[in-house]
Amino acid sequence: MTAALELHGVAKTYPPPTTVTALSDVDLVVEHGETVAITGASGAGKSTLLSILGTLERPTAGTVRVAGADTSSMSDSELSGVRAWHIGFVFQQFYLLDHLTVLDNVATGLMYRGMPAGTRRERAAAALERVGLEGRMRHRPAQLSGGERQRVAIARAVVGGPAVLLADEPTGNLDRANGHEVIALLAGLRDTTVVLITHNGEVAAAMRRQVQLQDGRVVHDSGAAA
Ligand SMILES: Nc1ncnc2c1ncn2[C@@H]1O[C@H](COP(=O)(O)OP(=O)(O)OP(=O)(O)O)[C@@H](O)[C@H]1O
Ligand SMILES: [Mg+2]
Repeated sequence: MTAALELHGVAKTYPPPTTVTALSDVDLVVEHGETVAITGASGAGKSTLLSILGTLERPTAGTVRVAGADTSSMSDSELSGVRAWHIGFVFQQFYLLDHLTVLDNVATGLMYRGMPAGTRRERAAAALERVGLEGRMRHRPAQLSGGERQRVAIARAVVGGPAVLLADEPTGNLDRANGHEVIALLAGLRDTTVVLITHNGEVAAAMRRQVQLQDGRVVHDSGAAA
């Protein structure tokens, strides 16, 4: 069976004038259904790694496979398609659209699926039910608590049933109780591969596998095949 995500010999050097080497020689194979925490100090390369796993950025060297498909030969629009169908994203800052209702924010997760608006809204409502926010569909993001906003962002990320969910510090702006709730939600997603970045040891421990980065290299991997 093919892995959900596969990096081999991945390096990322940002171009001049910065010329920062953010990642060097990273090998990472994430199997379907795994839950993985990426940890490491600020600047270690975690967000860069997640962007490359999610095909938001291309590596300078090495290969990236999503569901077995080599992404290096894909055009930017093909990569958009890969993201639209296979990958959901959640970020620390939520990135909800303030002028849309909660329901329509979640429906935007299906924008590139070529679905009628009515169907998008039905699916969005079902996703909001799954995160316990069926009573908040007509609210605007500004009328929600931080924890509720992040649950909306998760609903938007999973509304299309992506195989992979990538999250960059999803609990970074939440208090402990709301953080727990969000993590329980992510860990409980059935048939979904989850890769999240965290600075929080408790959050990392809630994932089945922990991968630690230091200066752009993997220095510890609890789940690496021997
Ligand atoms: N677009 C960019 N251009 C140039 N350098 C960058 C860019 N993005 C990140 N970097 C550099 O690459 C390195 C890794 O950055 P990255 O954002 O991946 O770190 P991180 O582990 O996510 O850190 P944090 O925990 O602070 O979010 C850093 O030294 C950063 O300054
Ligand atoms: Mg980061």
